Amino acid sequence: MNLIENLKWRYATKKYDTIKKVSVDKINQIKEAIRLSASSYGLQLFRVLDIKDKDIREKLKVASYSQPQITDASHLLVFCGYADVNDGHIDEYLNLKADTQGFDVELLKEFRNFMKAFIEGRKSGKQVWTAKQTYIALGNAMAACAELKIDSTPMEGFEADKYNEILGLKSKGLKADVLLAIGFRSDEDKTQYEVKIRKPMESLFEIV
Ligand SMILES: Cc1cc2nc3c(=O)[nH]c(=O)nc-3n(C[C@H](O)[C@H](O)[C@H](O)COP(=O)(O)O)c2cc1C
Repeated sequence: MNLIENLKWRYATKKYDTIKKVSVDKINQIKEAIRLSASSYGLQLFRVLDIKDKDIREKLKVASYSQPQITDASHLLVFCGYADVNDGHIDEYLNLKADTQGFDVELLKEFRNFMKAFIEGRKSGKQVWTAKQTYIALGNAMAACAELKIDSTPMEGFEADKYNEILGLKSKGLKADVLLAIGFRSDEDKTQYEVKIRKPMESLFEIV
């Protein structure tokens, strides 16, 4: 399987080539991998910001403990879970489902009630729940990058409150959960020459 070879090739890039840019076609393939990600009930309760503005990237870097990937990578994606989940999001999904699959949304009435009760039951856990969905998309994006031989860095080392403020996420009903820097490794990035550290299979898996 090529995927395994490509996962061995990838690493969390620390230093990017500041000149090389990822093509629009490749970025769109990575975005498609994100779009196709599984999510709880298929609700896709997140949005991904592709930060192009250089000044904003500089500000985000300060809010990311000055990690250089924020400004030096070709692209920076900010995965934002919905800050709240309401009945409107369920209706939006069910309308999309009915439209896409070609039937009357009224047929989903019972399912709608079930989903609404489920969401209501989540109460305070909604933000954690939507954040979890972003990590599934993040993983797919990283795998897509590896398959395309494009480098990436998953990043949690940032101050979410500052990101929320800089990007005006509150008014959009979003909150910053995790980042993915995307680009091409610099020859000077020493990390690429280090042996990958992973636990042996037997300490990760257990047959019960
Ligand atoms: C959720 C998450 C957050 C991470 N945050 C950062 C980060 O802020 N900065 C960074 O340089 N690497 C970050 N990493 C990279 C990890 O340190 C790296 O994936 C791990 O050490 C394994 O190394 P490898 O990915 O190169 O195989 C993060 C990884 C994950 C999965």
